[in-house]
Parts: sequence; C-alpha cells; structure tokens
Amino acid sequence: MPITVNGHAAVPPDDPRVSLLDYLREHLHLHGSKKGCNQGACGACTVLVDGERILSCLALAVQCDGREVTTVEGLANGGQLHPLQAAFVEHDGFQCGYCTPGQLCSAIGMIAEVERGVPSHVTADLTGDVRLTHDELRERMSGNLCRCGAYNGIVDAIAETYAQNRAVAPDVADTRKVAA
Ligand code: FES
Ligand code: FES
Repeated sequence: MPITVNGHAAVPPDDPRVSLLDYLREHLHLHGSKKGCNQGACGACTVLVDGERILSCLALAVQCDGREVTTVEGLANGGQLHPLQAAFVEHDGFQCGYCTPGQLCSAIGMIAEVERGVPSHVTADLTGDVRLTHDELRERMSGNLCRCGAYNGIVDAIAETYAQNRAVAPDVADTRKVAA
C-alpha cells in the first residue's frame, strides 16, 4: 500500500531496512525532518504518523504502509504558516532552526496526547483529565533537545498557541512563569 506523506501518495522503498527518516530525506527529498543523533535521543527527526508523534530515525518506512505521515513541510496551509509555526517566529522559538521541525511536530502530537488524557511522568492525578500545566509542558517536550537553548521561546510559543485549548491549564500561557 502507498504511504501518504503530507497528503500525497508515495511508493514505499523496496528495501525494508530503510528508516522512515532516510526515506523522507533521501527518497522523497523532504529535508525538513532532521537527522541529529539517529538513535532516538534528540527528537530532531520527530514526525506525525496518523497524528501521533514518532521518532522517524527509529521507525522503518515500510511500517508506514497505508498510514499518513506528516512532516514539517505539511504543517503550513498553502502560504499560511501553521499557528504554532507563526508563534515560534513571534517568540524566537529557534536560533539555528535545526531542532525546529521536530519541536513543531512533537508539540502538535503532544497536545493531542494531552487531549486524549495520556499521562506523563509528572502527572499527579491519574484519575482525572490531564491538564497541560507548565511542568507537564516541559516534561512532555523533554524528548526534543535544542542545542541553541531556545527552550523558553519554544515553551512560550506552544503555551500561547494552545492557551485556548480545553486541556491546557489556564495559567500555562503565563510566560513569565514558564520562563522562570
Ligand atoms: Fe531521531 Fe535524534 S535523529 S532522535
Ligand atoms: Fe538550534 Fe534548537 S534552534 S538546536
């Protein structure tokens, strides 16, 4: 079956050993997803598969047969940036930009996890709705490293973008607390 990448059908690789990251970058020439560590430690390669964030360096392309893959190239709507992309620009959520595609895809997948009620390591109450507090946000994004240290801008951008989300705690957009 074809793999759908950013809304377009793509032929899976003949070689079943090809990682999803190499497939995207080397076969489809989508260079937005970055190869940092290539061993699951940095998050630079994060993409969405059927709406869930995964590390594409640790996945095989053939595992995505019949599934929908979204990379950073698929986030904008035509010439209009995804709201989270615009917030990254507004809040200086990047410097060199190497980690940014992974940060963006990871944050979008992370919000969906919160909405589904998936707990994290710091979720204290496992019996109620999960709320995206400051600690939850930072914990849930901790798999995406930024060598430039743009973390405060990244967190601000995510917090502002999803501040109206029902799963987001009311004070999460208080950037002074986030940056503390
Ligand atoms: Fe995949 Fe670092 S390149 S986690
Ligand atoms: Fe440079 Fe994150 S902006 S690594």
